[in-house]
Amino acid sequence: MHPPLESMNLEMPAQKTSRIPRFHKLPLEEKLKIVKEFADLSDEDITVLTNTGRLSLEIASRMIENVIGTLEIPLGIAVNFLINARDYIVPMAIEEPSVVAAASHAAKLTREGGGIFTSSTNPVMIGQVQLVNITSPIKAVYQIMSHKNEILEMANEGHHTLRKLGGGAKDLEVRVVRSSIGPMVILHLIVDVRDAMGANAVNSMAERIAPYIEKLTGGKVYLRIISNLADRRLVRAYTRVPKEAVGGEEIVDGIIYAYAFAAADPYRAATHNKGIMNGIIAVALATGNDTRAIEAGAHAYASRNGKYEPLSIWEKDEDGDLIGWLEIPIAVGIVGGATRSNPVARVALKILGVKTSTELAEIMGAVGLAQNLAALRALAAEGIQRGHMK
Ligand code: MEV
Repeated sequence: MHPPLESMNLEMPAQKTSRIPRFHKLPLEEKLKIVKEFADLSDEDITVLTNTGRLSLEIASRMIENVIGTLEIPLGIAVNFLINARDYIVPMAIEEPSVVAAASHAAKLTREGGGIFTSSTNPVMIGQVQLVNITSPIKAVYQIMSHKNEILEMANEGHHTLRKLGGGAKDLEVRVVRSSIGPMVILHLIVDVRDAMGANAVNSMAERIAPYIEKLTGGKVYLRIISNLADRRLVRAYTRVPKEAVGGEEIVDGIIYAYAFAAADPYRAATHNKGIMNGIIAVALATGNDTRAIEAGAHAYASRNGKYEPLSIWEKDEDGDLIGWLEIPIAVGIVGGATRSNPVARVALKILGVKTSTELAEIMGAVGLAQNLAALRALAAEGIQRGHMK
């Protein structure tokens, strides 16, 4: 039986907005209050954020070797993000002034065109197994590929939880790589790592199958390790910003010139991409992710066409509005590693409210695009020292 209409609460729950004007002007207590309410944080979470020395030496010693201390870095909140029609406030850990403000400002501009939209592939990583001392590489490829199912089954042994979640080793590819010391047979184990960054699972799978590969081929396996060129784990972010929000068509044109410069010149492309990584790495660091893996993957991906290129594209549409597009590999996790052991990273993930590693990666892609917009807009308008860095 249905309850009488008048007793039902027909009001939709108020949607939280990340559009928080003058957030930067508020005193710290006010900022914390807003973040606490937005992300439903507990008093304990707030203590984790505000107590200095919150990464205890005891926890730090369990994270790495030879610990003698911890390094504090500011954790800021970027506001105004509207990503796939959902509001996010974004924790960013970074030492560089103006990055958080610039991200918040650019996010505000993107809202004028409906925000940032993202998509992503499945969280798929590649594990490489290097096979050498092979007399006939083509025969070895055949020997391996004709046992593909056994190899995949073997790789998946002991990864029941990952399998249950829909992940695991999914496919096998074999390449013959011509090296300076002769041909090598390189196996690529294609692994869906679900909500992990994936290095542990992929490395252990690559190590597990190695003896069987040697037995099948008579060759010798050396390296068994994840590839950080995560080109199966891509994030795409897209935005359309009305020219008025950007500051007029002249500034839109300046941004297009800046993009064309980066597309034509690796010296500029490196700096253009550095601006993108300012945002992405700050979120990676805040959430306890491996920033080096993301940087390595991003720059290798930027070179995939044989030339170092910008990771984003900027164009002007027929109305003179600005269109931005970013494509980048982002290998991040929300389980395991420092995402769990570092208490601040745990709270950062709670602030984002992400449910999957792909959602986190997509937010990071959106932040990267916004950060890039902020830098290019400032460069095209008032100049980075006078505007952005201020
Ligand atoms: C500074 O950290 C980043 C910028 O140099 C990026 C760019 O030039 O596009 C402002």
